[in-house]
Amino acid sequence: MEKFKVTPWEVEGKVDYDKLVKEFGLKLINEGLKKRIVKHTKDLHFMLRRNIFFAHRDLDKVLNDYEKGKGFFLYTGRGPSGKMHLGHIIPFYFTKWLQQKFKVNVYIEITDDEKFLVKNQTWEEIKTYTMENILEIAAVGFDIKRTFIFRDSEYIANIYPLVLKVARKINFSLVKAVFGFKNSTNIGLIFYPAIQIIPTFFEKKRCLIPAAIDQDPYWRIQRDLAESFGYYKTAAIHSKFLMPLKGPTGKMSSSDPTSAIFLDDSEKDVERKIMKYAYSGGQPTIELHRKLGGNPEVDVSFQWLKYFFEPSDKKLKEIEEDYRSGKLLTGELKQILIEKIVKFLKEHSKRKEKAKDRIIEYMYEGKLARKMWEKQYE
Ligand code: TYM
Repeated sequence: MEKFKVTPWEVEGKVDYDKLVKEFGLKLINEGLKKRIVKHTKDLHFMLRRNIFFAHRDLDKVLNDYEKGKGFFLYTGRGPSGKMHLGHIIPFYFTKWLQQKFKVNVYIEITDDEKFLVKNQTWEEIKTYTMENILEIAAVGFDIKRTFIFRDSEYIANIYPLVLKVARKINFSLVKAVFGFKNSTNIGLIFYPAIQIIPTFFEKKRCLIPAAIDQDPYWRIQRDLAESFGYYKTAAIHSKFLMPLKGPTGKMSSSDPTSAIFLDDSEKDVERKIMKYAYSGGQPTIELHRKLGGNPEVDVSFQWLKYFFEPSDKKLKEIEEDYRSGKLLTGELKQILIEKIVKFLKEHSKRKEKAKDRIIEYMYEGKLARKMWEKQYE
């Protein structure tokens, strides 16, 4: 068995998702649950159909609450330690879909504090990335009346008493066990988990968190504590990772530009990176490829189409069959992906232009934002 490791700050090796589900005590999103979702959403997001969002905690209870009219809310976030890559933006597009379908509030935490504590960057650098990242997230197009984007270092005064109450219930041995903290870990980071838990308490309703599976450790602590504070245990819906360009081990990293495509990469960058770095499941020569066909399971271009860039199941299936049979060559498959990414990035950057004026609303002046700045969490 190959070794692998998943924490909120590191992914190493080839992730065995079944093993994580067992280790973390998650449930898979089964067909029954998908049917229940479709009852309300009419269509099923392709990331659910394809089990990219594949595991959950209490998603069934969220649906119960919704059906009974109690409602729920969404919470997700981003640690602004660099430019955002394609993997980082996936949970946000998925969260937007959920917001549109269920008409619920979305809280987006920007953890400038966390990233300052984890990374070796100046506060100035973190601040710059914070504003850049918020713009990327605003470009996704959340419902302004129902969305609040906040950065920890600024919103902290509104939540500090509650943070303290939570922090007092978490001891060092717990976070050591959950996050692998050591005696050499700085004390800021040891305290930080108390902060990432708080937004799950923003409403007296069940919270649903869409994110990749790496964030789960926080939710485990939240679930042990929530009821003692009179709140619900948070629910969560977990995705797998969009794999790095170089193949199915580890994760995309902002500090290694050849491992990822960034939201501000140019058409040329996209073409160069995919052509040069995207790991191929094809054969070494055209003759062999025509004869033996390619392997889409390990092929990064195919996997990226499956995860995000080709929403049509019919088209994806055609591509898969043609690649397996050897009809479609690696270079041609890469070309399909390049076109899709370039189109996505063009549209995203157009939305970014428009979103510039809206940041103030998401953070301070929108309906939900205003309400949140008036609130003090005791
Ligand atoms: P961060 O900035 O590391 O990641 C932002 C979001 O992207 C997800 N993610 C990925 N999804 C798919 N493929 C990938 N390769 C990939 N890499 C990262 C992460 O799971 C996350 O959802 N501590 C958090 C910020 C945070 C947060 C939250 C995230 C605060 N509150 C609530 C989710 C939900 C962080 O540093 O995320």
